[in-house]
Amino acid sequence: MSECDGKCDTCSLKNSCPDTKKIIEQQNARIRENMGKIKHKIVILSGKGGVGKSTVTVNLAAALNMMGKKVGVLDADIHGPNIPKMFGVEGLQPMASPAGIFPITTPQGIKTISIEYFLPSESTPVVWRGPKVSGAVRQFLSDVVWGELDYLLIDTPPGSGDVQLTILQSIPDIDGAIIVTTPEDVAVLDAKKSITMAKMLNVPILGIIENMSGFVCPHCNKVVDVFGKGGGEKAAKEFGAEFLGRIPLDVKAREASDKGIPMVLLDCKASEEFKKIVNRITEKIEGKK
Ligand SMILES: Nc1ncnc2c1ncn2[C@@H]1O[C@H](COP(=O)(O)OP(=O)(O)OP(=O)(O)O)[C@@H](O)[C@H]1O
Ligand SMILES: [Mg+2]
Repeated sequence: MSECDGKCDTCSLKNSCPDTKKIIEQQNARIRENMGKIKHKIVILSGKGGVGKSTVTVNLAAALNMMGKKVGVLDADIHGPNIPKMFGVEGLQPMASPAGIFPITTPQGIKTISIEYFLPSESTPVVWRGPKVSGAVRQFLSDVVWGELDYLLIDTPPGSGDVQLTILQSIPDIDGAIIVTTPEDVAVLDAKKSITMAKMLNVPILGIIENMSGFVCPHCNKVVDVFGKGGGEKAAKEFGAEFLGRIPLDVKAREASDKGIPMVLLDCKASEEFKKIVNRITEKIEGKK
């Protein structure tokens, strides 16, 4: 065999290259070791964009933290990273050392990593193709010094592509996926694809959350079902998954999110519902072990 010239893109061996295989195996070993220190790993999925995956991730993390759990959040949305902003820690830079990359800790004590921390400005886009995106996600799993955690929550972009596949296939003994949807048919249709994808990869569905489910008008107190109602529950029944609950659209919650404050820290209906959902999730996960 000829000697490696480092030009992997043009090399005829490509995926069967023994050097590449060795590097992947070494990284897999680091992922196993790193993830082995974390008791529970949960991925947040949705087929459709903008339905509230990042909101659910941040609030689930904050609620678990309020229960005294040690929590980390991995922002696997490389093209649209929102986790730092939603925790109010954008603009900070993680420290790197030979031991790895140290996550940024939020004011609540939650460890976070996001590509956002490595970008020169908030308007800098990440213009990468799939393999590079997957590489970054795998590095967050293998090279971030997460330490001992009770929960690692992984926020994903919408869909069923490279990032979701990388997460679902790279993390050993992942506890399962939480599916987020809004109530209307168009979002539920896409959510069903996420459920099927997780099932195809033998990843358990921990449950379905229906977000933006009803809006209480601040003027007349009437509930308006902007996106309809019940789509998440129907999908849960269809797939034999648990329906974890519905979170209403809440202006206060959105305003807080923009200011970097998770809605579970507020006194509002969305916060109440969220806490109930988190209790159901912990009962389900910790009850079985
Ligand atoms: N229940 C809610 N009440 C009010 N605003 C909400 C609610 N859920 C989410 N939002 C707001 O809706 C917007 C979209 O939510 P979010 O970013 O969490 O969705 P996403 O599914 O992560 O989106 P993407 O697919 O782009 O990653 C955000 O501005 C968020 O603050
Ligand atoms: Mg998001």
